[in-house]
Amino acid sequence: MDHFQYRNGRLMAEDVALEDIAAAVGTPAYVYSTATLLRHFKLFDEALSGMPHMVCFAMKSLSNIAILKLLAAEGAGMDVVSGGEYARARAAGVPGDRIVFSGVGKTREEMRMALEGGIRQFNVESEPEMRALSEVAVSLGQVAPITVRVNPDVDARTHAKIATGKSENKFGIPIARAREVYAEAAALPGLKVVGIDVHIGSQLTELAPFEAAYRKVADLTEALRADGHVIERLDLGGGLGIPYTRSNEVPPLPTDYGALIRRTVGHLGCEVEIEPGRLISGNAGILLSRVIYVKNGEGRDFLILDGAMNDLIRPAMYDAWHDIVPVREPGAGAETRPYDIVGPICESGDTFAKGREMPAMAEGDLVAFRSAGAYGAVMASEYNSRALVPELLVHGDQFAVIRARPTFDEMIARDTLPPWL
Ligand code: LLP
Repeated sequence: MDHFQYRNGRLMAEDVALEDIAAAVGTPAYVYSTATLLRHFKLFDEALSGMPHMVCFAMKSLSNIAILKLLAAEGAGMDVVSGGEYARARAAGVPGDRIVFSGVGKTREEMRMALEGGIRQFNVESEPEMRALSEVAVSLGQVAPITVRVNPDVDARTHAKIATGKSENKFGIPIARAREVYAEAAALPGLKVVGIDVHIGSQLTELAPFEAAYRKVADLTEALRADGHVIERLDLGGGLGIPYTRSNEVPPLPTDYGALIRRTVGHLGCEVEIEPGRLISGNAGILLSRVIYVKNGEGRDFLILDGAMNDLIRPAMYDAWHDIVPVREPGAGAETRPYDIVGPICESGDTFAKGREMPAMAEGDLVAFRSAGAYGAVMASEYNSRALVPELLVHGDQFAVIRARPTFDEMIARDTLPPWL
């Protein structure tokens, strides 16, 4: 359930007409719904109720500080993967003890920043990283809390570019070597082992791969405890998928996922952390765009939009499907026709959809890309010197710009000339 619905023929974000937003701030623009974000966060929180837990929002999916602040006020922690994300989380007022730091390539600078600013735990992914973190912590007179991310060699059955839990992926340490690696971690002076971390991929549409991974983590918990380690926290990663089409796909619900967690690791008495991103932010956002031209090509019609692959890269990068719907509700029984829906960027990859059935569209019409809240704005760029796409947050009948569209002068002012030019 999300809060983008037609009312009186107009597509609304909660109680705001998207047409009004387009008139106020122009297009393209991302629009997020507060009620949807909160609803999705609470689904996870409730799914784990009764067991000690923390829902750490994977802010790589949507990292605007207004969104972080909104979720943090509900009790969310944050999963960060860079110094920049750490800085954003802190800027949004998230306390360090609610931030977990993931990622295969944390630099010593980033480690220092997090240790100085406060951190709940580092999810370390390799032995060299462990050694570096221990050194940095010792140099600051601190002990860094860690989990080790294990790679369970489970096939997440998702798009190859976003699967992370197979042995050929760069993530984590092979689970078969975990006991050895934990022994080294325990011996390093700057580290304190607090738990285990696992994350097998993103946009998973079935629970079986999670189940296989979590059972392995449960067995490992017992083995590590027998070796004398204190395993009090399990970070079970993110990855639960969302429906990208309104019609067929029905991925498992957070309640089913919560039940699976209880079933697989509930008996261990650990605090459970999860790192959902897409399920919280994905269907809470749309990309609003306007038709610049309708162009009749050879045997096909192109809908040329003012949004492009630099604003939403998922179709070009993962062949991802996003529903694209008119902002003016088509009348009942309105005829549809196929369009190739493209942006203005100078490469053929700037294609959102081919042969997509839409009601007849005209210059100036508005469309909304559904399910664009996750991995949308955060992956946007200024390719073709297109201004970075703005973001807006709706709350009931109010809306606010939470990241303004930069002017061309602002864009250009970031470049500087060397003294010899
Ligand atoms: N935790 C870790 C360690 C991750 O690497 C990720 C996502 C998450 C949590 C959150 O996963 P989620 O719940 O959002 O599925 N750009 C791609 C998705 C990349 C996901 C990377 N890691 C896309 O647009 O589909």
